[in-house]
Amino acid sequence: MGVLNSEILFLCACIHPEAPPRIIESGRGRGQSTALLAKLFPKTEIISVELEKGTEHDRIARERLTPFENVQLLYGDSTKLLPRILRNDDVVLVDGPKGPAGVFLCLNACRAATPRMIFLHDTHHGQKERQLTDVFWRGAGYSDHPAYVAEFSHLDSECWKHISDHDIHGWEAPSKRMGEAQPSYGPTLACLPPMRSKDARWCIRELRRLGKRLRRWRP
Ligand SMILES: C[S@@+](CC[C@H](N)C(=O)[O-])C[C@H]1O[C@@H](n2cnc3c(N)ncnc32)[C@H](O)[C@@H]1O
Repeated sequence: MGVLNSEILFLCACIHPEAPPRIIESGRGRGQSTALLAKLFPKTEIISVELEKGTEHDRIARERLTPFENVQLLYGDSTKLLPRILRNDDVVLVDGPKGPAGVFLCLNACRAATPRMIFLHDTHHGQKERQLTDVFWRGAGYSDHPAYVAEFSHLDSECWKHISDHDIHGWEAPSKRMGEAQPSYGPTLACLPPMRSKDARWCIRELRRLGKRLRRWRP
């Protein structure tokens, strides 16, 4: 679980030069991304929402995040919670729920407010997330861009050693997952620019329509 070093650098580069007042994270898991955000943005309020309480992952995350005064831990379903707490100019990081539900959450965030930008994890080529973000967000940027990978993938050598020793979402190497060659470098983080509320409503309607016809597009 977690994000690559090059992915978190990608997030910092997109946010640079002005740290946001708040970052809202959906999907805390063991809190690796949360801890990195707390360290890299010490003056930003990091609000992290996690669905599952009392699990082993939750225990690890709580322990890891105790030292950070700028972190607030919330529990609940972020598809309901996040649109309620979101304010204009917040940065959002979605690393759960996955699949179309994660894209719905990003669209609902744009419907509810004007976030500065939204990051969506696991948007490598072949994922439903990537197909949808490519269609809905003009100007989306991705951490698997070849020029970015050429420059910064060396930051991930320790991560890949760890990933290949443990079974983490089927990744075996930077461009190999579940025995198959991958067109993307690693899980991939997308940076999605804000979308007008009325455009987000239109995309949500279209995605619902698609979900009614084809089960695999249902959130
Ligand atoms: C891949 S893990 C997150 C890893 C974490 N970002 C890190 O870097 O360590 C995905 C997490 O999303 C959580 N999740 C899934 N659906 C959710 C939802 N609707 N609301 C909040 N959290 C959710 C899961 O329980 C899981 O802990």
